Amino acid sequence: MSEQELDESRVGFKLRDADREDGGLLAMVLDLMAAKPSVRTLKAWALDALAPAVGEAALDVGSGTGEDLAELLDRVGPSGRAVGVEPNRGLRTVARERHPSLELVDGIASALPFDGASFDVVRCERVLQHVDDAPAAAGEMARVLRPGGRICLIDTDWATAIVHPADPEVLGRMIDFFHAESANPYSGRTLRGLLADAGLTVAGETAATWIEPQSGAKQGFLSMMGKTSAAAGVITAAEAEAFHRGLEEAADRGAFHMSLTMYAVAATKSA
Ligand SMILES: C[S@@+](CC[C@H](N)C(=O)[O-])C[C@H]1O[C@@H](n2cnc3c(N)ncnc32)[C@H](O)[C@@H]1O
Repeated sequence: MSEQELDESRVGFKLRDADREDGGLLAMVLDLMAAKPSVRTLKAWALDALAPAVGEAALDVGSGTGEDLAELLDRVGPSGRAVGVEPNRGLRTVARERHPSLELVDGIASALPFDGASFDVVRCERVLQHVDDAPAAAGEMARVLRPGGRICLIDTDWATAIVHPADPEVLGRMIDFFHAESANPYSGRTLRGLLADAGLTVAGETAATWIEPQSGAKQGFLSMMGKTSAAAGVITAAEAEAFHRGLEEAADRGAFHMSLTMYAVAATKSA
């Protein structure tokens, strides 16, 4: 199924009771995101910062399709341990189908089902934006980290989203609506403070900006943004049509722009 064919009204990351079919749709979205150069850049940066070694214990919080967890397992080897915490049952099923040897547990970031000081390495990517109590989640990740352990948080900050062309006032109403739907839309800017407040020492930070290709004006999230906003009553049907027409006309002459910045912060726990 292509990005264009996805029925995005069925896609969400809060579906705790998601079945295999829901998990499959979410997995398709995650696969499309994971292929974006900016996401690949931050995943590689995090792996370098975490430096998982043979025999170590690693944790991926909100492990999704399990691809990053499989990479951690590969690094720690058979003498180590790699565990994914994932509340979405459908995604756990997808991850097990893709990587049968993965250890996956049901759970949420703000109540990790592990003893303190259980892991040498903890990662958590594009999860905290969906979490109601991000400081509690950061505290939990710090708790399960061993002294001398490494942690990396990655997240988007939706205030960095730029969509052009669009009437700023109409776009503002749409953005306010989508921000209100998200638990923590400005997560990206908070990562450093979350780690510092959890008593960890920040060791490095970076950012990567996703620039959508011209084809993105007509498919994926943007192709639904106006229609979804109109259905919710935050813009009119005429405003939605003008929004989509403006994007498509701009893309036809190569003048469309959409970008979004994601942040990664690495930290250590004092030995
Ligand atoms: C955008 S996906 C990112 C998945 C994966 N980390 C990656 O980078 O591909 C967000 C993930 O967070 C999970 N999630 C949502 N709320 C969560 C929570 N409170 N605790 C842990 N994971 C959560 C979702 O089920 C989903 O797998």
